[in-house]
Amino acid sequence: QKQKQPIYEGKAKQVYTTENPNELLVYYKDDATAFNGVKRGTIMNKGVLNNKISSFFFELLTRKGIPNHFVHRVSDREMRVKALKIIQVEVVVRNIAAGSLAKRIGWEEGRKLPTTVLEMYYKNDELNDPLINDYHIKAMGLASEDEITRMSEYALKINQILTGYLKEKNLELIDFKLEFGLHNGQVLLGDEISPDTCRFWDSVTKEKLDKDRFRRDLGNVEEAYYEILYRLTGEKA
Ligand code: C5P
Repeated sequence: QKQKQPIYEGKAKQVYTTENPNELLVYYKDDATAFNGVKRGTIMNKGVLNNKISSFFFELLTRKGIPNHFVHRVSDREMRVKALKIIQVEVVVRNIAAGSLAKRIGWEEGRKLPTTVLEMYYKNDELNDPLINDYHIKAMGLASEDEITRMSEYALKINQILTGYLKEKNLELIDFKLEFGLHNGQVLLGDEISPDTCRFWDSVTKEKLDKDRFRRDLGNVEEAYYEILYRLTGEKA
C-alpha cells in the first residue's frame, strides 16, 4: 500500500506520503522542544491548535497572493500540502528586538527596530542553526541568487500582511521564522506559521502569547495557544 507511508519525523510534525506523488500529509504533534531539543515537553493539544492556526495563516496568505504549500486541512491534526524540496535555510523576520537578536546586539527585549530585520540561518541541528548571509548561502549551494531574492521578497511581504492583520486582533508580531521549498522549480512557502514559530505579544499588555511561555517557563502555555486561535478565528477550542 503506497498510501500514508511515514517519510519524515521532526520535533513537532510527522510527514506522510499520499496517493498523489505531488502531495504530502503533515501530522501535527503535541511534542514541544526548545533550544535545539535540549528542553523537551508536551503542550496539550498543541498539534490541533498549530494545525488550525497554520491553516488559517496559509489561507490568508493564499488570498494575498503568496505561493505556499497548503492544500487543505484534512482533520484536527492533519494538513495536506504540496511536496517540497526544502531549502535548508530558515528565514527570520524581526520587527521588535527579542530572543537571540536582543542578546546578539545587546538591545533590551521589546525595543522597536527602526527598520525590519531579515536574517538567514543554516538549518542544521548539529551546528545549532548558525546565522549566515547571502554569500554563505550561495557558496554552500543552499539556494541560488534568484531563490534568495524570492525568499527575501516573500518574507517581507508576508511580514506586511501578517503585521497588518494581527494589529486588528490586538496582537503585535514581534518576529517569526519561515521555511521555503521548491515545487516544480517554483519557490513556495512551506512548514508552518504558529505560536511555535512566531512571537506574538498582546498589543496593550505586552503579554507573551507564544512558545516563549514554554521556553522560559512562564506558565499558561496551552492558554496562550488557545488565545491566538480564538483571536484569529473566534474558535474557542
Ligand atoms: O530565537 P530567535 O530570537 O532567533 O527566534 C526568532 C524567531 O524565529 C522566533 O519567533 C522563533 O519562534 C522563531 N524560530 C523558530 N525556529 C527556530 C529558531 C527560531 O521558529 N529554529
